Amino acid sequence: MHDSRFPTPNSRPYRIAVLASGRGSNFLALQRAIEAGKIRHSELIGVFSDRGNAPVLRLAAEHGVAAHSWRPADYPQRSDFDRALFAALAVAQPDLIVCAGFMRIISGEVLPPWQGRMINIHPSLLPRYPGLHTHRRALQAGDREHGASVHLVTADLDAGPVLAQARVAVLPDDDEQLLAQRVLQREHPLLVACVAALADGRLNCRSDPPQWQNQDLLQPLRLNADNRLEPSACAEST
Ligand code: GRF
Repeated sequence: MHDSRFPTPNSRPYRIAVLASGRGSNFLALQRAIEAGKIRHSELIGVFSDRGNAPVLRLAAEHGVAAHSWRPADYPQRSDFDRALFAALAVAQPDLIVCAGFMRIISGEVLPPWQGRMINIHPSLLPRYPGLHTHRRALQAGDREHGASVHLVTADLDAGPVLAQARVAVLPDDDEQLLAQRVLQREHPLLVACVAALADGRLNCRSDPPQWQNQDLLQPLRLNADNRLEPSACAEST
């Protein structure tokens, strides 16, 4: 019998748009996961950027993904830029928008149609360290654990409901760069696992609170050592 979590062979692939401003390693992780069948029945329909020279745009083009950019300086106000960007996204009809290193605060007025369909990856264990320089701040605070979070985007910066986290030990010799590299290595499987779960319906963000396998998600899921998502309590006992 067909598993209702998965699309039928003839159904439309799950459409993923990426908003990004820079390097694009998270975009590449998603692209590779789709190619490898780790995110099932999905396609990247475009990369949308606020920086015309962002390396992520070249990466997208190399992988046959449509690359779009707009210059904020061409718009009188932040909200004008956001309206143009989100009008283009509406035309592209994504099922999910992934902010992966999109270095702009998005004005709240454009978000309501995308509620529950827009996620961000952030390099800290939210609610610790919203904003910039997260690795430096974790080191300065003497944290023994750091990591990355995937959360729903709301009008408040890095403050939407956290869906899942990957934890990384802070080591005695860590500097900002070493720690950033180790967190980034966990960001990629975290983002892939979240997008895969959203695409096949295990993770459902159309309800409030979000649901994981038909249960209310009251604490962030945790990425385990096998790169699978688990409820936090379950992960503690393994
Ligand atoms: C990542 O660390 C992400 O968590 C943060 O910005 C960085 C983007 O990296 N929001 P990349 O462009 O995906 O390589």
